[in-house]
Amino acid sequence: MRLLVCGGAGFIGSTFVELRVREHGDAVTVLDRLTYAGRPENLREVRDEIRFVQGAIEDPAAVADAVAGAEAIVNFAAETHVDRSIAEPFAFSVTNGQGTHVLLEAARERSLRYVQVSTDEVYGSIESGSFTEASPLAPSSPYSATKTGADLLVCSYFHTYGLETAVCRGSNNYGPRQYPEKLIPLMILNALAGDHLPVYGDGRNVRNWLHVEDFSRGIGHVLAHGIPGETYNCGGPDECENVDVVKRIVALTGADESLIEYVTDRPGHDRRYSLLSEKLQGLGWTARMRFDDGLEQTVRWYTENAWWWEPIRSGAYRDYYERHYGRALKA
Ligand code: NAD
Ligand code: DAU
Repeated sequence: MRLLVCGGAGFIGSTFVELRVREHGDAVTVLDRLTYAGRPENLREVRDEIRFVQGAIEDPAAVADAVAGAEAIVNFAAETHVDRSIAEPFAFSVTNGQGTHVLLEAARERSLRYVQVSTDEVYGSIESGSFTEASPLAPSSPYSATKTGADLLVCSYFHTYGLETAVCRGSNNYGPRQYPEKLIPLMILNALAGDHLPVYGDGRNVRNWLHVEDFSRGIGHVLAHGIPGETYNCGGPDECENVDVVKRIVALTGADESLIEYVTDRPGHDRRYSLLSEKLQGLGWTARMRFDDGLEQTVRWYTENAWWWEPIRSGAYRDYYERHYGRALKA
């Protein structure tokens, strides 16, 4: 296929692009603004096989340039970190809301298929059981509220204009190249450096862990086989309390459990996420990677790829870290 992949220089988008180029021989254009989370290095394996356009999805001119020749748009581009959305929410409305709207218009003008990459956070928190695609939408953070708004806009373009849309909602992803503001890479890098491991609240919040390649393949199934107008959940095979995730990382890195420090909870912190993915499984998708294996592989990747994360740990990330956690990383 000829694909426009928005946000393809980020964590999940770059994994998706690699898979599409290597396993499907797709012709891919990436449109990415290269925010702090988007890095050209993430695409270095396929650099010579794709077209890259640097630009914002909320900029119609950049979108018009990037979309030329595409048959479908897959949108990963977003502001994605819940903590940042609490501290500085406006960028989330612009990218996640307005940006999605500009992409939908571009798809409508050219009658392109459109896949929106979304999140389990649109359903809010669930104490027991699992969300289906029919569960009510109840987002808790500015991040998840803007993602919910985007999902609703996508649905409106199906109902109003007959655009061939689909939404794929993933649970918490992990794997190589995830920016170290998120739980797993942050804990791995801090454990390797002997920095404290800041666990929010009582550490008993539960996340449903999904390997990034499994999510990328799930999105591929939605692109190929999804019914227009439908939404598909894509959940991981295992769930785990945060403090257990951190203890597993401590064991895998050989760090000391005394580094674990319970810190002030995130405001509005969702207790548990869980997705039922039977609808996507009906399209032939299944998660291949169990959390134990995927976590071990991920710790190994960060251990062996300091070239990827050293520039982040020594750059503007240090200021973010100090502002957010109220203490500095080790020099
Ligand atoms: P990420 O933060 O690693 O990457 C986001 C990418 O979008 C970056 O390359 C960034 O430069 C780009 N971007 C940001 N604003 C842009 C703009 N205005 N115009 C163009 N590009 C812009 O994010 P990720 O974790 O890879 O998430 C990708 C998508 O998957 C997001 O839509 C997110 O909501 C969704 N999602 C993430 C997870 C997860 O656990 N990480 C789970 C479910 C769904
Ligand atoms: O569920 C899917 C979502 O997963 C995606 O839509 C988001 O883009 C992605 O960022 C992620 O959101 P979370 O808020 O669940 O991920 P995060 O890695 O920030 O936090 C995971 C859990 O770990 C959460 O309960 C908060 C906790 N946490 C996080 C950090 C960064 C800590 O205890 N300490 C920390 O320092």
